[in-house]
Amino acid sequence: MDEVNIINNIAEIVYKTCGIVFKESNISVLKSRLDAKIKEKKLPIDKYYELLTTDKNELNSFVDFVTTNFTSFFRNERQFEMYENEILPEIIKNSDKKIKIWSAGCSTGEEPYTIAMVTYEYMEKNGFFNKGFDFEIVASDISLESLFIAKEGKYSGKSVTKVSNIYLQKYFDSVSNDIFIIKDFLKKKIKFDLHNLIYDNGIRDIDCVFCRNVIIYFDEDVQRKVLENFYISTKKNAYLLLGHSESLFGIYEKFKPVTLNNGVAYVKD
Ligand SMILES: C[S@@+](CC[C@H](N)C(=O)[O-])C[C@H]1O[C@@H](n2cnc3c(N)ncnc32)[C@H](O)[C@@H]1O
Repeated sequence: MDEVNIINNIAEIVYKTCGIVFKESNISVLKSRLDAKIKEKKLPIDKYYELLTTDKNELNSFVDFVTTNFTSFFRNERQFEMYENEILPEIIKNSDKKIKIWSAGCSTGEEPYTIAMVTYEYMEKNGFFNKGFDFEIVASDISLESLFIAKEGKYSGKSVTKVSNIYLQKYFDSVSNDIFIIKDFLKKKIKFDLHNLIYDNGIRDIDCVFCRNVIIYFDEDVQRKVLENFYISTKKNAYLLLGHSESLFGIYEKFKPVTLNNGVAYVKD
């Protein structure tokens, strides 16, 4: 088999495993990651291909390597304002006191920890903990390496620049000027889970799904599968928040767009 065929086959394997599409426009990304792997393993491309097709662990680690894991604290701040001021009050109003949020494609944890800080702050400020309300966040990703970092909750000074000093003091232990660790009481609100969004993970009764900058890497077939899984995992009237360049228009209609003061959210029909 020549190199082009091998690369196309690997693109197909990656697609079948996690839904991420590599075609003409971005196949060079796959190729450069493949080159790096081959160098690291000191194997010719055909031998590495053989390894990928026979060794499940190697395939998982390769998929991990080709996914884009970029994230940050308070990424898309306006959306968090929308969540705090418009979505969370609505969820609490209709809840049975236990609010369940899902950060789907949580990468290295900055997103679920941001959700946790905003939710904690809101519930504390408005006396909801005293009234017996509480919340939990399920944070899932296909990348084991990212989840490892997320669970540790240890971040550099550079990565917490968008976190206010008040939140830094309240929610992080500062080991030095450059190392900040999420405090245990906040970590305890989050359950990290290795999960491929293509499959149903069995969680139910979710009030709000954050799935931002994830479905953009999938084609429409995979997007529909993933959205159907969100549909069965969520409560009636649950919210779905996507990345700013993502839309369900023409793809999936069981979550309807609603325009709020600080942006667009989707609501389960
Ligand atoms: C660009 S990051 C987005 C992180 C975060 N949601 C944000 O917006 O900052 C995309 C994440 O989706 C994860 N991902 C990609 N395909 C996945 C799949 N099939 N199942 C679960 N997670 C997946 C990647 O591992 C990566 O961590």
